[in-house]
Amino acid sequence: MSLDRLNKSLMAEVKAIHDQGRAKAPERVIEKVIPPEGDLGYRYRLRGYSGEYLRMNSNSYLGLSNDVRLIDAADKACRELGVGPGAVRFIDGTFSFHADLEKKIAEFSKKPAARIFSSAYTANLGLAMTLTDRDTYWIGDQLNHNSIIRALRISAVDRDHKGIYVHNDMDDLKRRLEVIPPWITRVLLIFDGIFSMRGDPAPIDKIIKIAEEYNPKYPDGVITIIDDSHGVGAYGATGRGTCEYMNGDADIIVGTLGKAFGCNGGYIAGSQAIVDAISQMCDTYIYTNPLAAGDCAASMKAIEILDSPEGLELLAKLKANTEQFRKGIKKIGLETIEGPHPIVPILVRDTKKTQDMVRKLFEKKILVVGLTFPVVPYGDETIRVQISAAHTKADIDYAIKSFSEVVKECQ
Ligand SMILES: Cc1ncc(COP(=O)(O)O)c(C=O)c1O
Repeated sequence: MSLDRLNKSLMAEVKAIHDQGRAKAPERVIEKVIPPEGDLGYRYRLRGYSGEYLRMNSNSYLGLSNDVRLIDAADKACRELGVGPGAVRFIDGTFSFHADLEKKIAEFSKKPAARIFSSAYTANLGLAMTLTDRDTYWIGDQLNHNSIIRALRISAVDRDHKGIYVHNDMDDLKRRLEVIPPWITRVLLIFDGIFSMRGDPAPIDKIIKIAEEYNPKYPDGVITIIDDSHGVGAYGATGRGTCEYMNGDADIIVGTLGKAFGCNGGYIAGSQAIVDAISQMCDTYIYTNPLAAGDCAASMKAIEILDSPEGLELLAKLKANTEQFRKGIKKIGLETIEGPHPIVPILVRDTKKTQDMVRKLFEKKILVVGLTFPVVPYGDETIRVQISAAHTKADIDYAIKSFSEVVKECQ
């Protein structure tokens, strides 16, 4: 047996992706993290490249991923309980760190209970599998994350059981609710808290009001689900995320531990009945190993830091850094989507110019990501910058100066 014929077919498929301009750039490999020194923040060394890079494309909004307290917590937990769980949760793969982290996440989310997953991606897949039956109808924002779109496909949600509303358009949301067939028993309304390509929030307060209006029509109600992966830890007065920022409370919260918390893993927070249903019906929870004890211990430490006075300082630093960058970018005359979130999209609106600018920023030792078709529609080509509390004022100054030079070079 040989892979020759399969290889040939796959190579043709990959070539087609390249020919259509949809291919991802080759992955760069980070091989060393240089701690802050003087007025400079973290720098990164890349395999095969000289010099040290300023990273402005990381989701680690609070800069906790290299925090020695998280590393120590993970180290201690691994020494106590090992680096892997050795089994899935229901076959004695549940350790004290899993139970304790779930309790902490439930408290943090102000929900009765929570379940952890290996990622927010698998949390979304599992949630859809758990909640979907033949009489369930899903409604989602047009710009929802890929994991939500994939979750509905995996759960075999067809066109007759799903409606997609125009991004953040509440009139369109109402139109989608109006056309739900009368035999539907359960409506699930799902949306990103912060839209990852744009950094803009969902109008949760309005969404919840609309959901409440339609709720009595269905036996199981209209349930709101927020995937706040980019919001939790980074947004709102105490880092509770978009619900806190927009003053609205979704019924179910999906979050990640892999962005602002600086670790790895995902979660679902909601009622005890939801958690019990996950434990019995959710394949991406039941049939896969849970997070390692080290992941859980580091995440608990991250939440502990966020909930201390230092957490408020980190949020204030993140806000100040974001404002500094947004102000500088505006001065240069670059187009962005206004807002306080540390995702700062720079709308270049041209594929080649976006690629040229990203390349020139890389030459200036700055890591950012260019978003072109099909990640964003033609005409919305964007450079996505992500600010962190670990950036220094000098880092942000340098980034603004570099953008200003690159804009001139790419005119
Ligand atoms: C809205 C949203 N959901 C889920 C994810 C996936 O998170 P994780 O890396 O924990 O799977 C992302 C990450 O990009 C995201 O932006």
